[in-house]
Amino acid sequence: MNEAQEINHDKLMELFGNVFSHISGAVGLLMSYLGDQTGLYSKIEEMGSCTAQSLADATDMDERYLQEWLSANAAHGYITFEAETEEFYLSPEQAVVFCREGEPQCLQGLIQGVIGQMATQDVALEVFKTGRGRPWSEHHMCCFCGTDRFFRPAYVSHLVEEWIPSITGAKEKLTSGGKVADIGCGLGSTTILMAETYPNSHIYGYDFHDESIKEAQKRASEKGLTNITFEVRDAKDIPNEGFDLACIFDALHDMGDPVGVASGIKSILNDEGKFMLVEPFAEDELKDNLTPASAMMYGFSTIVCVPTSRAQEVGLCLGAQAGPKRLIKVLEDAGFEGVRISDSTTNNLVFEAAK
Ligand SMILES: C[S@@+](CC[C@H](N)C(=O)[O-])C[C@H]1O[C@@H](n2cnc3c(N)ncnc32)[C@H](O)[C@@H]1O
Repeated sequence: MNEAQEINHDKLMELFGNVFSHISGAVGLLMSYLGDQTGLYSKIEEMGSCTAQSLADATDMDERYLQEWLSANAAHGYITFEAETEEFYLSPEQAVVFCREGEPQCLQGLIQGVIGQMATQDVALEVFKTGRGRPWSEHHMCCFCGTDRFFRPAYVSHLVEEWIPSITGAKEKLTSGGKVADIGCGLGSTTILMAETYPNSHIYGYDFHDESIKEAQKRASEKGLTNITFEVRDAKDIPNEGFDLACIFDALHDMGDPVGVASGIKSILNDEGKFMLVEPFAEDELKDNLTPASAMMYGFSTIVCVPTSRAQEVGLCLGAQAGPKRLIKVLEDAGFEGVRISDSTTNNLVFEAAK
């Protein structure tokens, strides 16, 4: 309800300032992306400090462009400018956020994900206007790489130490030797992590996106892993059974038929088998999700997750902020019993479902 017809100047300026900072930030993201893809942040860290000229000499790039890029970064607070010496350098905190790949606070993966969406804004607009589905494969390559780079540090921090031990009997089974399905595995970060940690187990990674599976296979073979198999498969068509553990990481909500997928998973588990579902953190009600993190997730959901689900059979469109109640209902509708939240972090909810 509109509370007043008259404009409150203070509120207007607050909103203006808020949106303006987002606009400035959006340009900043593009600056960060340029620095990431050219390796400039890492180079500056390696050099200790630089001027545009010394950076140009070290990288064989254009000095004038670098001057402007360094200035933009300094104004954004992404790089530190020392006025006395006219030199630029990265503080340890700036280095973590902009060039320490794998650190949980390194944001380049997420930035790449945003850039990927901006790059295909015309498709996003057409999909949004028409309401048609948009298959995962219709996204920019930055979407796949950015998703993987963004999610991987959380998996490295939590999967082996917290999430698997939170599932009844899973750690013991995988240590002694078990069979695991990672469904909707994308570029295979979780699949590879489990194969490396549990050499007595065999980990199967399935995803319906062939480019992602190709990249996952390449990464696994570079690591010389022999207890891992990747296959291009729809989540409802897993050609195998007798699994001790089936997992889905940040992907069930992207699927068209989450109940059908979960019910298929129930049928490929052995009698003691467990399904570990990892989904983005959210509360059940929109009113409790009005945070910057949820704002970002609802945005990605509008242009990626919901259209990906809509492009598939059933097209349930759970969205990336489905919340625990809705997700538990999906698992129960699929016939799972004893569904419980086994762990949670700032970014994720982890569910255990027993056959
Ligand atoms: C947000 S990504 C997550 C990928 C990976 N699990 C991770 O956490 O990095 C969602 C993944 O689900 C996959 N996907 C969506 N629907 C699928 C389906 N019906 N069958 C198999 N994979 C599917 C996509 O191809 C994509 O790789």
